[in-house]
Amino acid sequence: MAVVELGPERCDALLRFFEALPDGDLTFIKEEVTDPETVRSWASAKTPGGRWVAVDGSPDAEEVTGYVAVRPLPGWSDHVGEVRLVVSPSRRGSGLGRELARRALVEAVSSGLSKLVVEVVAEQGAALALFTDLGFSGEALLRDHIRDRGGQLRDLMVLAHHVSETWAGMDTVGIADELDAPG
Ligand SMILES: CC(C)(COP(=O)(O)OP(=O)(O)OC[C@H]1O[C@@H](n2cnc3c(N)ncnc32)[C@H](O)[C@@H]1OP(=O)(O)O)[C@@H](O)C(=O)NCCC(=O)NCCS
Repeated sequence: MAVVELGPERCDALLRFFEALPDGDLTFIKEEVTDPETVRSWASAKTPGGRWVAVDGSPDAEEVTGYVAVRPLPGWSDHVGEVRLVVSPSRRGSGLGRELARRALVEAVSSGLSKLVVEVVAEQGAALALFTDLGFSGEALLRDHIRDRGGQLRDLMVLAHHVSETWAGMDTVGIADELDAPG
């Protein structure tokens, strides 16, 4: 298994990954991820932020097993990156989500973003644990903010990572070693 930056050669495998996800997981991505044109445009246009995929299998039968993106917010919040992360349901619980999130954090900090946010459904224990361990903390609780597939209202948590404030925390999870430490 390898985590690589999304390039044009992996768009078809990424589309197959998105098409196989349950609807509930697709809502975390926010973009039209089952539309081939949308996914291909990600790899061809050089936009700020980044997208990475976890890939498995031989080069001629490659499978995408996870996806993470950092999307800078527009306008006056363009120093803030929003993280979107999803792992194939059959591969969860083996550290892949953590590895992808860590990669996104390292790349986002290297590219100069000073704050990262991620939206997590309040009951999503795995996502909360994963991002908290990487130095994110709760910044907002939006009550009854989303509806699940059954129409039930659910709370949404916004977790945030302030890069300079949490540098010491990053050190403890070994991320600072992967970056040029700030002066
Ligand atoms: C959140 C998600 C990406 C985690 O992926 P994953 O590959 O299962 O994550 P990991 O295996 O790296 O687990 C990370 C941590 O989550 C916790 N965890 C994993 N599975 C868990 C579960 N079923 N229940 C509670 N906590 C769990 C553990 O603390 C784990 O840490 P550990 O490695 O020390 O045990 C995955 O569940 C997913 O795609 N969910 C749907 C989309 C989503 O919620 N995205 C987040 C918001 S963008």
